[in-house]
Amino acid sequence: MDTLVAEPLEALAARIRACTLCRLHEGRTNAVPGEGAASARLLLIGEGPGRHEDEQGRPFVGAAGKVLDASLAKAGLTRGEVFITNIVKCRPPENRKPKADEVAACRPYLEAQIRAVRPAAIVTMGDTALKGLLGPSASRTAPGRRRPRHEGIPVVATYHPAAALYDRRLGEVLGSDLARAVRLVAPITRPRSGRPRQSRRVRPALSSGCAVLDGENRILLLRRADEGLWCLPKGTVEPGETLQETAMREVREETGLSVRILAPLTEITYSFYSPSDDANVEKRVVYFLAERTGGRLKPEPGFDDARWCGRADALRRLHFENDRNVVRRAFEALAPATGRTRGRGPAASS
Ligand code: URA
Repeated sequence: MDTLVAEPLEALAARIRACTLCRLHEGRTNAVPGEGAASARLLLIGEGPGRHEDEQGRPFVGAAGKVLDASLAKAGLTRGEVFITNIVKCRPPENRKPKADEVAACRPYLEAQIRAVRPAAIVTMGDTALKGLLGPSASRTAPGRRRPRHEGIPVVATYHPAAALYDRRLGEVLGSDLARAVRLVAPITRPRSGRPRQSRRVRPALSSGCAVLDGENRILLLRRADEGLWCLPKGTVEPGETLQETAMREVREETGLSVRILAPLTEITYSFYSPSDDANVEKRVVYFLAERTGGRLKPEPGFDDARWCGRADALRRLHFENDRNVVRRAFEALAPATGRTRGRGPAASS
């Protein structure tokens, strides 16, 4: 990205509306430059305008837009707090995928929007957005990858809201990925959850995580920056993922460490009220015993500390009794192995 002063968003939008750089301008009613706060900390990228967007000149105003609004709400966000744009700004005929030369022609506009908004994180929605931003080899699920960046800005890759029209579970993932992006840009506050409320809809949720042990009988804890609470690494199970895959991915994303699952450990359940969708969430979290195999300990933004703790230290730090029970179970599971030398991961620094 160059160091020129960023072109204001309105001037950019005017240029986009008049653009004739690729064939897509021929069939458009309106170009759809994108919209949202110039000061947004999150910039969301979709694929390209559909029929409704083309008619109105605004992004995500059709069915996919409704899904997006609901997912934003789940993450405690409104449209006014984000900037929404697309990889291509004019509707491809019959809603076909944009072609490579169309993406390339439109790319300078996207770059200029990113430069103008200077978001703290970018969220790509769908494969076209991800590959359009990061290149053809980019993948949402590439194992072992650290979080990708575009010009130094962290990129959260999630599903396209239209995918959730066919599979509701993808909507859950979209919401939790947006919530993750919110954690990445910490100054946006997260809605606080509380005790379950009477007569509310119940929303089940499934997560998995790890009790990660090092070679010195210590367990890995993380501290959430918003509430200062210590916890274990865990997160939402995505469609197509096994519980083990989720647990390993969450540890990698939240702590920077790669781990090997040793055994199933235990599961906990708890309920809380979620203000963003006015529902009582019934959450089940499945934990695995795992050992570190590599990586460097570096908490994801949204967590302000991560450390290896002995049993007593971990029990003292953890806020929730059910988390303390996970730690007790982990050390019990370890007991028969005492005397056995657990293999150390390759980068046992931090
Ligand atoms: N789908 C997209 O990718 N973008 C929109 O603006 C609307 C639907």
